[in-house]
Amino acid sequence: MLTRTDNESLTRVGPGTPMGIYMRRHWIPFLLSEELVQRDGAPLRVRLLGEDLIAFRDTDGRLGLLDRYCPHRRVDLFFGRNEDCGLRCVYHGWKFDVTGAVTDMPAEPAGTPLLESVRIKSYPIREWGGVIWAYMGDSASVPPAPPQLEWGLVPDNARLVTKRLQQNNYAQSLEGGIDSAHVGILHSRLDPEKAHLPFGERQLSVSDRLPHMGTDKTPRFFVRPADYGLMIGARRNSGPDSYYWRITQFLLPFYTIIPRTSEDDPITGHAWVPIDDENTWTFTMTWHPKRALTEKDIEHTLGIDVPVLNDGSYRPQLDRSTEYGLDRDMQRLRNATGIDGIGLQDAAVQESMGPIVDRSLETLGATDAAIVAFRRLMLRNARGTESDVAATAQNPDWYRVRSAGVVLPRETDFVAGAAPFMAI
Ligand code: FES
Ligand SMILES: [Fe+2]
Repeated sequence: MLTRTDNESLTRVGPGTPMGIYMRRHWIPFLLSEELVQRDGAPLRVRLLGEDLIAFRDTDGRLGLLDRYCPHRRVDLFFGRNEDCGLRCVYHGWKFDVTGAVTDMPAEPAGTPLLESVRIKSYPIREWGGVIWAYMGDSASVPPAPPQLEWGLVPDNARLVTKRLQQNNYAQSLEGGIDSAHVGILHSRLDPEKAHLPFGERQLSVSDRLPHMGTDKTPRFFVRPADYGLMIGARRNSGPDSYYWRITQFLLPFYTIIPRTSEDDPITGHAWVPIDDENTWTFTMTWHPKRALTEKDIEHTLGIDVPVLNDGSYRPQLDRSTEYGLDRDMQRLRNATGIDGIGLQDAAVQESMGPIVDRSLETLGATDAAIVAFRRLMLRNARGTESDVAATAQNPDWYRVRSAGVVLPRETDFVAGAAPFMAI
């Protein structure tokens, strides 16, 4: 559990909040590249860390991220004209370039000093790794590059990035991402032939590729600090002399990488990006370090991903307004939840806690060790305001790590034993 004060510190990300300031010291992915392709195309409304912004690609292909509202009389620039290297407010014609400078004020007298003195808030922006990134921190300390996560380093054809809206705080989703203990329960499939048996005796493994997950449902957690965040080892019994280790990476401030099941499978990671305190972009990255993704890889990924509406909103097709498609017959016979798809099962339980779960009411158990470590680390970073930079943001190479799922002899330290699998 957390005190209410700590819970506030962990979850509030708006301007001026400790966590908001900390996150703003990093490059933040917020759009898929596919969302902002067209030069002089429609500007895109963006909400990020509780700020209302507008994104556009100008005539020369440069990207801009500006305050949503015109500094003149506060018109929404979504209605603006994106033309000739700038975004023009349609009310009185003030025009802004991607740097935030005003380049035209047609309704003001010629030579107006306002042209020089007025600026609109603008943030540096980058396009890399199939996503578009913003830097919303102090402009004097822009980090050198986005974090060199492996999904950004591989060729475009070796990577798939999707995103979807989740209607809860970022930390709630992230805690699901580092919580290996729920996998064998929430995502378990049931044998319909054994409907007469108790739940524990009916479970098939989550996936045919993960036999240990179903057989040992009480993993022991070992958490190690790392430069970039945390290395989380979940240990399950395998053979008499061996353990099956699933090592998940948490990378500050909101990335996770989950273990793959075999060397030939693609790897999956997430970015849980706060739209505001109560909404999150769940980015899912799937990539293969050595080869292009095959159609089968993509089909498999999209099969466990949450299908979204085709209207540019990235809202899931099923959400709490439709109870996530809950089917009680499916729940009785075929799986734990009656909800179809791993991503949707996660979304259902995470959103069901409310937009910001009250962590003062929790009862944590032994399998919550990683979650406790995550909260401590985040709170420590958010409160470490003596420096105006974050070490992780200034060292993008720290992010060059992978997750791992390995069977190791019982006497082998999990970090040492998995090192060859985690190296990039
Ligand atoms: S409100 Fe935008 S130019 Fe007047
Ligand atoms: Fe899950």
